[in-house]
Amino acid sequence: MIVTLTMNPAIDKTARVEALCPHALNRLGRVEQDVGGKGINVSKMLAALDQDSIACGFAAGQAGRTVVETLHSWPQGHITPDFVCIPGETRTNLKLVEADGALTELNEPGPAATAEQVETLTGRLLAHAGPETLFVLAGSIGPGVPPDIYGTLTGRLRAAGAKVMADADGPLFARAVQAAPDVVKPNCFELCQYFGVETTDDPALLVPMGRALTRRGVGLVCISMGAGGACFVAGETAWFAPALPVTPRSTVGAGDAMLAGVACGMDRHLPLEDCLRLGMAASAAACTTPGTRPPERAAVMELLNQVKLTNYR
Ligand SMILES: Nc1ncnc2c1ncn2[C@@H]1O[C@H](COP(=O)(O)OP(=O)(O)OP(=O)(O)O)[C@@H](O)[C@H]1O
Ligand SMILES: [Mg+2]
Repeated sequence: MIVTLTMNPAIDKTARVEALCPHALNRLGRVEQDVGGKGINVSKMLAALDQDSIACGFAAGQAGRTVVETLHSWPQGHITPDFVCIPGETRTNLKLVEADGALTELNEPGPAATAEQVETLTGRLLAHAGPETLFVLAGSIGPGVPPDIYGTLTGRLRAAGAKVMADADGPLFARAVQAAPDVVKPNCFELCQYFGVETTDDPALLVPMGRALTRRGVGLVCISMGAGGACFVAGETAWFAPALPVTPRSTVGAGDAMLAGVACGMDRHLPLEDCLRLGMAASAAACTTPGTRPPERAAVMELLNQVKLTNYR
């Protein structure tokens, strides 16, 4: 079973506006609403792959109820929401898209959680943990949640026999790495930031950084490079895969889709290289849909045959 964690979910409202004018009244055109947050995006992609998941996290107020109900009645099914309710209101993030495609994002901080509520959520996660459970800890945290949360959770969930995948940036990523998760998925910017070096998408520089993490105990490092494709490092073995030729509509959430593809393969006990191929196909397919809306399973399967994964030394 796959369990995703979204500590700070959101309702993403995407609105069209002709040309945004600051300090003036802006009238919005069509407004679309999606439930989001990285763990939830992973659950949505898994559902598209006919893969069950339990979606955990914090939910607050009316927006929180909307998140839970939306996941509960997800068109393809496959998602079991298991959220801890906290006071306040789950965030609504407004994304304004101008006629020329320019994007302005207005993100709320989200509700604060107390140490006791974090412990309640941890207990909920631990109740799902066992040797056949794969946890996906992904995305930012709300106010009040300690920045070492992914490190702490990785330690406790692994002690219960579960596998852990972590995807976050900054201190959240650094503290997760300390606890040596089974899988991490930094993009090239996040990985370079962790090592304090200038951002690069050169596999010759990124693969040694990936190896430095596997030598610290991380099982698999998936380094995504947007349109530059991805590198993967497991132990001393490394691979490179060029991005698949798709016409992107929105690359937001492509990393989450990669995480979902790899998680799906691992949960089905596929050989490692097949997990990586599924990650590549899912992420490319996710680029062809608007926002973080998951693609059709058929689109992923068609791209799967085109993945070129080669050993990299
Ligand atoms: N323009 C593109 N064309 C084809 N594939 C793409 C493109 N952009 C992204 N991808 C695929 O998606 C993967 C993940 O993308 P990216 O590196 O942008 O993730 P990310 O920065 O973690 O994204 P996010 O955090 O928004 O989910 C890439 O490794 C690649 O396989
Ligand atoms: Mg990412």
